[in-house]
Amino acid sequence: MQHFDKKIFFATNNNNKILEAKHILSNFGIAVEKTEVKKVEIQSDTLEEIVLYALKKIGKTTCPVVIEDSGLFIEKLNGFPGPYSSYVYKKIGCDGILKLLENVEERKAKFVSIVGLKKGRLIRIFKGECDGKISYKRAGEHGFGFDPIFIPENGERTFAEMSLEEKNLWSHRSKAFKALGSWIQSHKHI
Ligand code: IMP
Repeated sequence: MQHFDKKIFFATNNNNKILEAKHILSNFGIAVEKTEVKKVEIQSDTLEEIVLYALKKIGKTTCPVVIEDSGLFIEKLNGFPGPYSSYVYKKIGCDGILKLLENVEERKAKFVSIVGLKKGRLIRIFKGECDGKISYKRAGEHGFGFDPIFIPENGERTFAEMSLEEKNLWSHRSKAFKALGSWIQSHKHI
């Protein structure tokens, strides 16, 4: 039976993100609960700005609330879709991105995750990045979003071909949540 000393409330509708965060933070003795607190999302060119704005909009909270925003940045497309990843995924999906990169050899890309923590007046931001490339075709059934077309650096398989545990060895989100976990561990009042 896992022992948890602390708990954070994660404001997201994405259950995959909850599962990934739970797996990482359990190693730090931190439980994760989904919260209905609304994440107010602005359009911005930076993930940091989106997260900071959403944190400020939460208002006063005595519990530690966490918000995360992430995106896929494709080098050949000047970082597109970046902070617009969620919208672009809904509109054109993985197949749309593959189409944009048809006959393009340079396929470098990275995932970025910004995790924001708010408790009382305290606000902290944590960042994780994962370098990789866009595959030539979809592969794998696990995960969500652009997982079927993203191959992390030095690998041959997409995130969607990996278990959650294996994705968490490399992913942007796992790095950001590890940074959050070790920060919380060293701050007794959280
Ligand atoms: P948001 O963070 O909820 O704004 O969504 C970011 C979008 O980026 C998602 O809808 C996905 O399409 C994509 N994305 C972010 N992180 C991941 C990931 O770990 N795997 C696959 N797609 C991701």
